[in-house]
Amino acid sequence: MADSGTDLSSAEFVVVANRLPVDLERLPDGAERWKRSPGGLVTALEPMLRSREGAWVGWPGLPDAEAEPFVEDGLQLHPVSLSAKDVEDYYEGFSNGTLWPLYHDVVAPPAFHRHWWQAYVRVNQRFAEATAEVAAKGATVWIQDYQLQLLPAALRELRPDLRIGFFLHIPFPPTELFMQLPWRTRIVEGLLGADLVGFHTAGGARNFRWLATRLTGASPGDGRNDVVYDGRKVKLGAFPISIDSARLDELSRSPEVQERAKQIRTDLGDPERVILGVDRLDYTKGIDVRLRAFEELLAEDRVDAERTVMIQLATPSRERVEHYQKMRNDIEQAVGRINGTYARVGHPVLHYLHQSLPRDELAAFFAAADVMLVTPLRDGMNLVAKEYVASRSDLGGVLVLSEFAGAAIELKEAVLVNPHDTDGVKNALHAALTMRPEETRRRMRALRKQVLANDVDRWARSFLDELGLPPAEETQDE
Ligand code: ADP
Ligand code: G6P
Repeated sequence: MADSGTDLSSAEFVVVANRLPVDLERLPDGAERWKRSPGGLVTALEPMLRSREGAWVGWPGLPDAEAEPFVEDGLQLHPVSLSAKDVEDYYEGFSNGTLWPLYHDVVAPPAFHRHWWQAYVRVNQRFAEATAEVAAKGATVWIQDYQLQLLPAALRELRPDLRIGFFLHIPFPPTELFMQLPWRTRIVEGLLGADLVGFHTAGGARNFRWLATRLTGASPGDGRNDVVYDGRKVKLGAFPISIDSARLDELSRSPEVQERAKQIRTDLGDPERVILGVDRLDYTKGIDVRLRAFEELLAEDRVDAERTVMIQLATPSRERVEHYQKMRNDIEQAVGRINGTYARVGHPVLHYLHQSLPRDELAAFFAAADVMLVTPLRDGMNLVAKEYVASRSDLGGVLVLSEFAGAAIELKEAVLVNPHDTDGVKNALHAALTMRPEETRRRMRALRKQVLANDVDRWARSFLDELGLPPAEETQDE
């Protein structure tokens, strides 16, 4: 996969994210190999960056991994090594034990520890130094996500010549919640090091602007979408992220994927209805919400266990973080209980796979499912919802979508639910299972129009245009 013989010169366009798009994996025999990294950030950015032949700076996903920079498919990858202690305090601690729950509406309690914060400061500084070495003079650097919010200012300090963008892939919280953070001012100052700070929603940009003017010396700019800080204009904006819709549409139409989708239904015992959930195993995703709704509908006989099957695919995620361990236990207990009560020998009513699947296999599951359940308690966007829509060129399938996913702003023709309202979720699932084909087609047609027109390329272009970077072709010709 890796080609280390290619030129690793300084780059005109650099993406920086906590993770590289590939993770280093150590096999039991001690050998190492690279595999695709989990999550929506990589799904969205990888196709965009490949087309621009840029560089990507990030962590290889294992503690103490000392990998050399290498080129893969035209993309320069620059690994940043993190020690076991960094992983524990910066990644599992401050990023995923403090910021992740705080920014997701405190659906789990965030923990505030000073030594986690110190590690966050230290690692953001290390990323700044690594990026400063990779970026060419006057280059554009696009920093990604909550793990690196101090990086814009730290990088500007080292390299004032750079054009710096920042995009937050998760929700920016309500100001009252953000104010809980003991280091709130430092985080806002860190982000204000960028020339453009992007959010999924206009509400996120508004919250940030309010905080910037209250917590730092920033003053409101001329427009509603900027502030002036340190003598510079910092632009703010909403850029709802998306997927490579055309590629997924094409993949899902392929005879192999269609054949595999049929096979999946046969393997399930040819049920009348297949319900699907696909998520990273994360407590924000509301997997428990949909299991409860399914279980109650079975108990009330509103769903027939003989004719309905549910599948939950869950990518392993952040397995050493406490909230994740507890949630996994709870979910696996619920799966056991539901099957214990409603399955027959050879016919589970609920299939649960704690595995990450290849893209074509995932497309086949999307194509095989009559109802897609996306029920997060809070989600920045949720790409799975868009992937399901892009996979349904047959106009079949009903999307049930939480109002608290960023995607709900655009996907208005989904069956929208409040995940805190169990009866509402049950009714929505029941309605989706019994929806008339004409209604299903009408909704899916409208959803597809939205998702196919607004793809990830358009998202990246609108952000980079606002940042002032010329289109990809011009960059490559230079
Ligand atoms: P998040 O970024 O929080 O993980 P998203 O829904 O935005 O949530 O993105 C998740 C990405 O991970 C999607 O591209 C989805 O297809 C992928 N994914 C989720 N579960 C699996 C799985 N079991 N196997 C393979 N890919 C998965
Ligand atoms: C979400 C976050 C990303 C993160 C991904 C996977 O998409 O926004 O920043 O990379 O989840 O999580 P992980 O902790 O495994 O990187």
